[in-house]
Amino acid sequence: MEYIQVQHAQIPALGLGTYQLIGREAREVVQRALAMGYRHIDTASIYENEAEVGSGLNGTSIEREDVWITTKVWHTNLKKKNFLLSVEESLRKLGCGYLDMVLIHWPSPEVSMEEMVNSLIAAQEKDYTRFVGVSNFPLSMVEELVEYGVNIVTNQVEYHPYLDQSEMREWLRARGMALTAYSPLAQGKIMKDSKILDIAEDLGKTPSQVVLRWLLDQGNVIAIPKSSRGDHLRENLQIATMRLTKEHHKILDGLARPDGRIVNPDFAPQWD
Ligand SMILES: NC(=O)c1ccc[n+]([C@@H]2O[C@H](COP(=O)([O-])OP(=O)(O)OC[C@H]3O[C@@H](n4cnc5c(N)ncnc54)[C@H](OP(=O)(O)O)[C@@H]3O)[C@@H](O)[C@H]2O)c1
Repeated sequence: MEYIQVQHAQIPALGLGTYQLIGREAREVVQRALAMGYRHIDTASIYENEAEVGSGLNGTSIEREDVWITTKVWHTNLKKKNFLLSVEESLRKLGCGYLDMVLIHWPSPEVSMEEMVNSLIAAQEKDYTRFVGVSNFPLSMVEELVEYGVNIVTNQVEYHPYLDQSEMREWLRARGMALTAYSPLAQGKIMKDSKILDIAEDLGKTPSQVVLRWLLDQGNVIAIPKSSRGDHLRENLQIATMRLTKEHHKILDGLARPDGRIVNPDFAPQWD
């Protein structure tokens, strides 16, 4: 497993996304992934699978401190009191004594930046979580948040070859922070891309492995692909020894397009 060092956090660079994994499947996939070597699980209160993720985690003999667990607080719970209640519920459902990272899932125009910052800091001060961060924050909002003095580890945003995040990635890199790439496989869309298929064929790898390697090669990028299938889970994990050339990187860097964004709910902020 590759790790990224941010602040004093050692974060497994490849995590398991769990959105849309629910019930028994969520528990089984988490257990299978951990047995294969995954050491980073991404969940959220809104995914309604924290209890199953927790039972998957607690059903293995892996030590709690060897697994990185991120959860997120939904945008309707960002006021300090509700935020802490949400994190407490996540802790209870996950059956954990602490979280590795708590993220604000989406910013809310109804909650001031100062209050969001206070909520993050309070969760950390209560030792509910080791680290904090945000998700779906455009650059102007991350800048404002950081000015309040909160030490965030990451901004988790949609990132795959079709969506340019170079400005965000470089801004975070310059401050020693990581970009966590959600929907890193563009929800499966990259599998049929002829240019990605060509690179995959060239290397004897799969499109998913090519894209995940491209993301992790960027140095301060964490990727959290979701899969419910054992073969896909294993494939996504087995990218440590493969090498992309500069030419491969150039091709992948050139696939971004203006309409590349997939996740854009009506409560999304104004994107950069
Ligand atoms: N912060 C946010 O607002 C936010 C938003 C969206 C997502 N996320 C997080 O990011 C995670 C991943 O994003 P995502 O689920 O939207 O999309 P994704 O990981 O880009 O794509 C998942 C899709 O790719 C398929 N897949 C995975 N590995 C594959 C492989 N090796 N070969 C072929 N197909 C493969 C999966 O199917 P199978 O299950 O059949 O393998 C699934 O249909 C989520 O689960 C969640 O944890 C966060």
